[in-house]
Amino acid sequence: MIRIRVPATSANLGPGFDTLGMALQFYNHFEVAPAETLSVELSKHTCIETDGLSLDPSENLLAKAYSAYFQFRQETPIPARLVIEGHIPLSRGLGSSSSAIVAGLVLANHMHPDPLPKTQLVPWAIQLEGHPDNVVPALLGGVQCCVSEDHRISLVWPSEWGIILIIPPTKLHTNEARTILPDHYSRQEAVANLRGMAAWIYAVEHKDASLFQEALQSDTIHEPARGALIPEWPVLKEALSQTTAMGSVISGSGSTLAVFTPSSVSHHQCFERLKTVTELSHCKIVSVKADTDGVYTLPTTTSNTTLPEALF
Ligand code: HSE
Repeated sequence: MIRIRVPATSANLGPGFDTLGMALQFYNHFEVAPAETLSVELSKHTCIETDGLSLDPSENLLAKAYSAYFQFRQETPIPARLVIEGHIPLSRGLGSSSSAIVAGLVLANHMHPDPLPKTQLVPWAIQLEGHPDNVVPALLGGVQCCVSEDHRISLVWPSEWGIILIIPPTKLHTNEARTILPDHYSRQEAVANLRGMAAWIYAVEHKDASLFQEALQSDTIHEPARGALIPEWPVLKEALSQTTAMGSVISGSGSTLAVFTPSSVSHHQCFERLKTVTELSHCKIVSVKADTDGVYTLPTTTSNTTLPEALF
C-alpha cells in the first residue's frame, strides 16, 4: 500500500488568473493498493462534507486521473483500490479537484513498474484540469507562475508573510464561476493587469510588502465579475481597513478569501480582529503556511491527523 498527501492550493492570487498558484500546508491523503478491479473508497478519517462526491470509478476524478495516466502511456490500467481521506473542503477554491487529479497520476505512477519523474506528470495534470495554477503547485509545492506546460517560474514565499483563509460555508463551482467571466477585456484592463502581475512577481521575489499590497489590488480579469458572488468580501475588506494586512484576494474561483499579512505581529492582530467580526462568524477563519514540498509520499505509519480540527 502506498500513501501520499497532496497540498491544498490557492490559485490566481490577485492578478495571476490561470497563472499564479501556491501550495498550502493542509492536505488530502490518498492511498493505493493492488486489487482485482478499480474501486474508490472514502476513509473514515475524512473530515469534510462529501455530498455529491461520486465514488463510481467512471465518475470519480481520482479514478479518472488514475486511468488517464495509463492512457497517456498507451497502456492498460493496473487495477487498484484507491482510498480518499479528505481534509480540503470541496468547491471552496482551495484545489480539492486538483488534489484528486494530482493524486490519481502520482498513485498510478507508484503502481507502474517504470515510474516517471514528478515533473513529467505536469503536462498531463494540466491537460486533465484545463488550467495549471492549482495542479502545478499541488505537484511541485511553493509558489508557481505557470507559463506553459513546459515552463514555470518557481518563487519562494517570504517566510515572514502570513496567510489567513476565510472559508465560507457556500460552495462555488469552478465551471460556473468561469462562465460568468467576460469574453473580452479593454486595453486599459489588460494593461492594468499586466502591470499588477509584474509587480506581484517582483514583490514576492524581493519581499516588498508595499509593492505587494498594490499588486493585490490590480486584478481586472476575474475578481470584478466574481466579487459579487462572495458577500463576505466587502465585509472582509472593511474589517481589514483597520489592520496592517497587505490585502485580500479570492482564492481560486472562490468562495474562500485569502488575506496576506507582512509580519507575525500584523498576522496576529489581523487574525484576532477577523475572529471578532460578526458578519464573518459563519466562516472558518484559519491561519495557514505555504507548503514547499508539493505531493509527498508518506510512510505508511503516518498519523491521519493533518489539521487541529475539521474545516467542514
Ligand atoms: N484559475 C482558475 C479559475 C482556478 O479561477 O477559474 C480555479 O480554482
